[in-house]
Parts: sequence; structure tokens; C-alpha cells
Amino acid sequence: MSVNFSESRTKENLMRAFAGESQARNRYTIAAERAEEGGMLTIADVFRYTADQERAHAERFYSLLKDLSGETVHIDGSYPIDQQDTLPELLRAAEHNEHEEYADVYQAFGDTAKEEGFLEAASAFYQIAEIEHVHEKRFGALADMLGSNMYYHSEQVSRWMCTNCGYIHEGQAAPKVCPVCRHEQGYFLPYAMACYKLP
Ligand SMILES: [Fe+2]
Ligand SMILES: [Fe+2]
Repeated sequence: MSVNFSESRTKENLMRAFAGESQARNRYTIAAERAEEGGMLTIADVFRYTADQERAHAERFYSLLKDLSGETVHIDGSYPIDQQDTLPELLRAAEHNEHEEYADVYQAFGDTAKEEGFLEAASAFYQIAEIEHVHEKRFGALADMLGSNMYYHSEQVSRWMCTNCGYIHEGQAAPKVCPVCRHEQGYFLPYAMACYKLP
């Protein structure tokens, strides 16, 4: 089936996705501020890192609407309110929303785009769905670690990295204060989650 883009459901789905990604970016930026207020600076970093990726998703979907520049697209949609008081709850809510995007929303949008003959939009929906799956798993893992008090502690000897100076600590807990740069524990990240580490 080939459909005129300006009359397509894909046009609306792209706008829904642009709205959803834009909101996710803001929700995560706000959640990052909450994490920072609680001294959990590396959790704040993860929220900001993910927020930037949601911005990139928004930009990709928006770019696929370029042919309709100057027009307005009317959509309806449901969007979450996530202002939970604790960090594990905020992470759990983010995990849930990412799961819905990955498992339901973007698969359906991709299928519709394919049916309507918009293959570039279809592949954007399917590809970005896979990224949301990674987001889902990361937020879920963090919620588990915070919920079981294992973000800064471990039953076995483990490693943490100070994200301020790069010091790597080995032991069963992240230090309260970095022995090198004297920054607080909130700067430490479980080493398994560190960016740019060598395999
Ligand atoms: Fe996204
Ligand atoms: Fe995401």
C-alpha cells in the first residue's frame, strides 16, 4: 500500500514520537537534577546521558517530517507524569516507559510505516526501539542496584571509579571520599559501568 505522506498515519506517528522523545528528554533532565540534589552524581550523569540520546531520537523523527515544513500536525497521545519522590522509583518509572516504547509503541509505528510504504521511517522506529531497550535495561539495573543498596557496595571484591579524577578503587565498597581528589562518594561509578574503559 502506498499512501500520500501528508495524509498518512506515519506523519502523525512521527509527530507523536517527536513529542514523546522531547518529553523524555525533559523528564530525564529533571530527574538528573533530583539525583544531583541527593548527591547521586553518577546517576545524574546517566539520566543526562540518556536525555541527550532522547534528543537525538527527537531530531531523527523531526527530520523525517521536513517535507511538511510550515504545516501543523494535530495529534492526540498519552504521556506519563513521573515525579516520584525517590531515585529508585524514578528509575523504575523510566524503565517502564522505555519498555513501552521498545516493546509496543515503536513496533506498532514501524509496522504502520512499513504498511504505508515509508521504509525510512519504519527503520527509524525499529532501530530506535532497540536503543530504548538498552535504556530500559540500564534504568532497570540501576533501580535494582539502588533498591538493594548495591550501587556502592558489593558482596565480593569489586571496583569503582571516581568520575572526577579517574581513581579506581578495589574493595567491597566505594570510598566515602576519593583518596586522590577528595571528592565525595557520589562521584563514584561501579567500574563495570564506566565509559571508555578498555575491555
Ligand atoms: Fe528515545
Ligand atoms: Fe530512551
